[in-house]
Amino acid sequence: MQKISIKLNGEVRYVYVEPNEVLLDVLRDKLGAKSPKSGCERGDCGACAVLLNGKSVRSCLILAIEVDGQEIDTLEGLSQGGLTPLQESFIRHNSFQCGFCAPGMTISATELLKNNPHPTRDEIKEAIAGNLCRCTGYESIIEAIEEISKK
Ligand code: FES
Ligand code: FES
Repeated sequence: MQKISIKLNGEVRYVYVEPNEVLLDVLRDKLGAKSPKSGCERGDCGACAVLLNGKSVRSCLILAIEVDGQEIDTLEGLSQGGLTPLQESFIRHNSFQCGFCAPGMTISATELLKNNPHPTRDEIKEAIAGNLCRCTGYESIIEAIEEISKK
């Protein structure tokens, strides 16, 4: 076991990890951040997305020891001060049904809107292309992001 530190949602946390432990498992099982979901566990579905130093990554593909000393933000951190305008827009548009994809979608859309506050519809589609949703057909998700991008 190796002790690492992660600035998780603004708070420095220390945790012991195995050399082969993936970040997703450490976040969920050892640090209590349950929003990243375990879907495919091979980088295909985007359900496990988190922000690493502000950039969206798939936490199932990263070893926890690789992020020693770095910053991770999950959905819990994004909504620390209450629902964000993006999350409120998702609710207004009934964007999710089962909700399994919601954390990853929100991370991808948050990254997009931070870097490009007024994306085109095609840019929105491209930004969430790596996030699979089995329920909604994507339209209501895209519309919710589009609404925020027009403000
Ligand atoms: Fe990580 Fe699917 S669980 S991409
Ligand atoms: Fe069910 Fe997206 S709402 S997977």
